[in-house]
Amino acid sequence: MNLFEDLSQCQARREELSRGAVVLRAFALPDEAEILTALGEVVAEAPLRHMVTPGGFRMSVALTNCGSYGWVTDHTGYRYQPTDPDSGKPWPRMPDVFRKLARDAAATAGFENFGPDACLVNLYEPGARLSLHQDKNERDFNAPIVSVSLGLPAVFMWGGLRRQERPARVQLAHGDVMVWGGPARLCFHGVLPLADGCHHATGGRRINLTFRKAA
Ligand code: SIN
Ligand code: FE2
Repeated sequence: MNLFEDLSQCQARREELSRGAVVLRAFALPDEAEILTALGEVVAEAPLRHMVTPGGFRMSVALTNCGSYGWVTDHTGYRYQPTDPDSGKPWPRMPDVFRKLARDAAATAGFENFGPDACLVNLYEPGARLSLHQDKNERDFNAPIVSVSLGLPAVFMWGGLRRQERPARVQLAHGDVMVWGGPARLCFHGVLPLADGCHHATGGRRINLTFRKAA
């Protein structure tokens, strides 16, 4: 018996949350081992850290970046920059397995030729959350956002173009990839506080990789 014979079937699961917003269930699973190895190397070079928002709050999510640009926040604001503010060095290069995964996921969701220049790595420990926001520090909103979930499952909030719209709640599990672009590019989204758990790949944590075209 081939226990894994239905992997290709679950990979085909594609859920449209709104026009331009798609969840590709288990899309990243075939690359799991390579992704985790590459991620270990990125984090060794540019450690995860808790940044401070312009309003002076310490983020509950820890983050780092790889690629030509990295997203940062401090008391002066949110922005992308080519260097790690902690080390002053360029961010680690984006691993090929990351770049290819993001491009393939975007194409599967209907956005051809996605060439991300930034990958934000978010680490959630139990209780960590991300409040409702839009991704709008990028220069070009024509490119989609590709978001890869690893480790513990999370409840993702998927809203509309106005903050007032009540968001849908979507479970994102290990290996799921979410893509939003076109009419959904500026939709509000966030993550509810992470529940306790233990995952074979990441222990008691969730990791999210978001790929963007920043510049
Ligand atoms: C983000 O909005 O940057 C991250 C979303 C997630 O962790 O799923
Ligand atoms: Fe975001």
